[in-house]
Amino acid sequence: MLFLHLFFSTLWIGGMIYSLLFLKPSLRELPQEEQRRKLLRSVFSRFFSAVFVSIFVLFLTGMSLWHGYRKDFNANTLFHLKLFLFALMTFIFLYIYFFLYRRGRYSHIPNLIGINLLLGVLIMLIITYIR
Ligand code: HEM
Repeated sequence: MLFLHLFFSTLWIGGMIYSLLFLKPSLRELPQEEQRRKLLRSVFSRFFSAVFVSIFVLFLTGMSLWHGYRKDFNANTLFHLKLFLFALMTFIFLYIYFFLYRRGRYSHIPNLIGINLLLGVLIMLIITYIR
């Protein structure tokens, strides 16, 4: 359970780091706007499918870990802050997917991925502090 939780949190957060630090700067080397859009559409369609799976697996494994092994988190405020941040990350992702990506508005996506990355790192800081 913990392995699946760690693997899919790494997939989501790692994918956001890749998008912002490696993919975005490299896009500028493609001369035409249409080429850049085509590559983004291809990368995002795969990454966003993986994020949907990550959200599902993180929620399921997280609930199992919580109610199966870490009932001590019931009264832990920081843990509930982690859950709130996860919900916020999920809503931001759903906005990115349905209101930006599906409508071809790619230019706004990196900023929101940046916010979600900060929230994900904050979650990892919280859990390593309270576990
Ligand atoms: C982006 C979302 C999330 C990230 C990045 C994340 C990250 C992590 C990490 C890195 C650990 C491992 C700590 C260790 O080394 O033991 C962990 C543990 C845990 N997570 Fe999450 N998590 C996320 C979402 C959730 C959700 C949604 C829940 C609950 C519904 C949850 C519940 C837990 C619990 C209960 C543990 C403790 C496991 C233990 O100590 O045995 N997590 N999480």
